[in-house]
Amino acid sequence: MPIKVLEILKGGSLGRTELIQTHLGELRVRKSISSLKNREYGEVRWHSQLKRLQRYDSLLPGLFPKVIQLGATEDSYFFDIEYFKGFCNLKSFFCDYSPNHYQIELIAEKVIDCAARLHSYAIFDSYPGSLGVYLQEEVLQKLSDACEDTRFEVFSDISTIQLNGLGMPSLKSQIPWLREFVAKIKNGTECFTHGNLTLENILINPNSFEIRFIDPYDENIIDCREADFSQILQCSSSHYGIMSDYEPFVNGASVFLDYKIPTPLIQFNEVISMRFTSSGLDLNTELLDFLHFSQFARMLPFKVQSGDLKRAILFYALSCKLIQEMRVRYGN
Ligand SMILES: Nc1ncnc2c1ncn2[C@@H]1O[C@H](COP(=O)(O)OP(=O)(O)O)[C@@H](O)[C@H]1O
Ligand SMILES: [Mg+2]
Repeated sequence: MPIKVLEILKGGSLGRTELIQTHLGELRVRKSISSLKNREYGEVRWHSQLKRLQRYDSLLPGLFPKVIQLGATEDSYFFDIEYFKGFCNLKSFFCDYSPNHYQIELIAEKVIDCAARLHSYAIFDSYPGSLGVYLQEEVLQKLSDACEDTRFEVFSDISTIQLNGLGMPSLKSQIPWLREFVAKIKNGTECFTHGNLTLENILINPNSFEIRFIDPYDENIIDCREADFSQILQCSSSHYGIMSDYEPFVNGASVFLDYKIPTPLIQFNEVISMRFTSSGLDLNTELLDFLHFSQFARMLPFKVQSGDLKRAILFYALSCKLIQEMRVRYGN
């Protein structure tokens, strides 16, 4: 049946997300992926999203989009999902709207409530050693993969780097401390998680402030509440997403990024950070901070491989800053 592509919501080398219209006039979102190229980070992730959407829609109807149908072409697979008309993602919302403080508090509360519905669904024991595997796979292995590019390796070997004029020890020089720190973190329980809870994957209706989640993935390794919340912090506190709209500048050991943070995002970060450290949520803040740091480390090889060396260096510098802050917060 013929379909019309109305808008490309997100394009990439492996896959894309499009707003489509069926021959009956129905609006849907189509997520397609190459069935041939880079299947580990393409098709496998795409499939993990499909299974999460299937299960979460059945457990928590209305929070995630419904899957409508699957399909295949010669070189790709796709699934169509329900389109949330009138919704926009939280990153765009904070850039384009001017919510007041009360509304920002309401939004933060609703986001936490939606996550809590998912997180409360099942509680599993976490296996001993999970965090060690996470550190190895998502931080050390990813760093080593990124270092296959000699220009990245040269930067990562500098012992003190600067981010926007602020000096700090390199991530590489902090690895012994990091190993010790991670070995002491207690990860108690795991639960169902979103797996990719960035502000671009949280939708809001700007009139009713209803919240929806999209774009989940099975890639946390440790499915804990802190993993999801660390991805919110990655956006609200470390400005991932907003930073993507600006070009970093690298000169020797110094990295600069001149960017503007929308005021509502600053206020949202204040509110949500306070909630994350409040006794009510009872989060493990050492785990939360470590996972927040790791979100930047785990992306390094993908930035290098996509040819965006300057952003890989920026993310490396951000990971150095977050480790430095952890050392100040938790002592040496
Ligand atoms: N079901 C949906 N309803 C409304 N908007 C959507 C929907 N799915 C995606 N979008 C919009 O498209 C953007 C990209 O979609 P997403 O599924 O997150 O793709 P990607 O996997 O490329 O990140 C989202 O940030 C959101 O703005
Ligand atoms: Mg997304």
